[in-house]
Amino acid sequence: MRLARLWRSTPFRLAIAYGLLFATSSLLVNLATYLLLRAEIYSTLDSSVTETYAVIQSSYTPGDIEDVVQSMNSFSRLQNGDRRIFYLGSADGKRLAGDIMKYRPSGDLQTVSAEALGLPGTERFRIKTGNIDGNNLLVGESLEATDDLAQIIFANFAWMSAFTTLLAVFAGLYLARRAQARIDAIADTMKEISEGNLSRRVPLTGSGDDIDLISAQVNTTLDRLSDLMESMRQVSADIAHDLKTPLNRLKLILEDASLREENNEAVGEQLREALDESDQINATFQALLRISQIEAGARKTRFASVDLKQVFRNIAEIFAEVAEDNGQTLSFDEESAPECLIDGDKELLTQLFVNLVENGINHCAPGTAIALSLERKGDEYAAVVFDNGPGIPEEEKDKVFRRLYRLDKSRNSPGHGLGLSMVKAIADLHGMSTEIRDNHPGARFVLSWKRHVEQN
Ligand SMILES: Nc1ncnc2c1ncn2[C@@H]1O[C@H](COP(=O)(O)OP(=O)(O)O)[C@@H](O)[C@H]1O
Ligand SMILES: [Mg+2]
Repeated sequence: MRLARLWRSTPFRLAIAYGLLFATSSLLVNLATYLLLRAEIYSTLDSSVTETYAVIQSSYTPGDIEDVVQSMNSFSRLQNGDRRIFYLGSADGKRLAGDIMKYRPSGDLQTVSAEALGLPGTERFRIKTGNIDGNNLLVGESLEATDDLAQIIFANFAWMSAFTTLLAVFAGLYLARRAQARIDAIADTMKEISEGNLSRRVPLTGSGDDIDLISAQVNTTLDRLSDLMESMRQVSADIAHDLKTPLNRLKLILEDASLREENNEAVGEQLREALDESDQINATFQALLRISQIEAGARKTRFASVDLKQVFRNIAEIFAEVAEDNGQTLSFDEESAPECLIDGDKELLTQLFVNLVENGINHCAPGTAIALSLERKGDEYAAVVFDNGPGIPEEEKDKVFRRLYRLDKSRNSPGHGLGLSMVKAIADLHGMSTEIRDNHPGARFVLSWKRHVEQN
């Protein structure tokens, strides 16, 4: 089981593949070096034999074989142990000098056993024979020392090969284990996360290598995922909490109605109130569903070219009267507005700016001036809705975009706290960024986006 798992592990398979490759190549290199060295020491022996032979041969002066005998004897005295062997004999087989009994013609270099030369032991010799003025000359050298040396060199290379192979295997396994441990850490983290522990993150070594980079990427994804989960949880909790109040109100009204009915009193007013309350709850649900739909992005298929200037013109026209009834003014400075075509959903974009204008009307006192404007700087566009009303405190600027969130001072103005959530959802769908600035005094809602295609 464990072995099967090991075999499936990429680092281990890589380690084994590289270990084999390394071991084989080091074995081949060692073998080649050994063979070269071996050939070299044997050829050194051959040269030594040839050289000795040549020296003895050159000591010959025609008619005087004694010189050869003398030079051979001095060689014999020089030698250590029985490394070198010599023989000089007449054509009829009489031994004139040297330390072996039996002459054995070899022509050029040859390897022969001690026995073939009539010597005791099992040693082997490298010999060279020739003819000097009718006499037989043999010069030889024992192979024992060279064989020993070759064996030592062989043992050396064998050990070296074994050592490098072991080193390759253990270093490979060590590195594979380290890589595997880090991969396992990622797998463990993912497992824990899938089991619900969203706070777990993949540990980083800080080396900045590829596994670290992937781990960092995984961590970023997990951060985003847990943020999303957290905000979903938050939204669900908020919605449940915020709907409790109107549902409780509805319950109280119905209890009141039921009591009155028991006393045979008229309940028409209570029923109307209940109807009203359930309409409100319905509207809130509708708006929540609509925001979710917009966030899901399905409406993108309905995108077409929308003339935002035209949209602003329409809104200004329709809502100017509503503002007027409320003692406020609504204006759109059409002259300074650039042409502004954007790819989007006209109905949603209208809804977005209507929500902002309605907020101005609902949350600002009579006497407030509300204005719409379109601005362009290069390929940066901004659509702005601003007023000189009470404004939004700095610390509330992020919160007002939350679903069902309303400032305390707005508790008595109409709305469900979903207008700005919808603004945000529609803006996101259109790739616009949303910002609330201070209008000194008042609030300034700026929706900005970048357009790369030049307009005509
Ligand atoms: N123009 C504005 N001036 C002052 N406060 C505002 C303005 N627009 C929005 N707000 C505040 O932001 C809150 C959230 O707005 P919104 O999501 O549209 O909900 P709603 O209008 O239903 O209350 C409002 O309740 C209000 O307190
Ligand atoms: Mg609103």
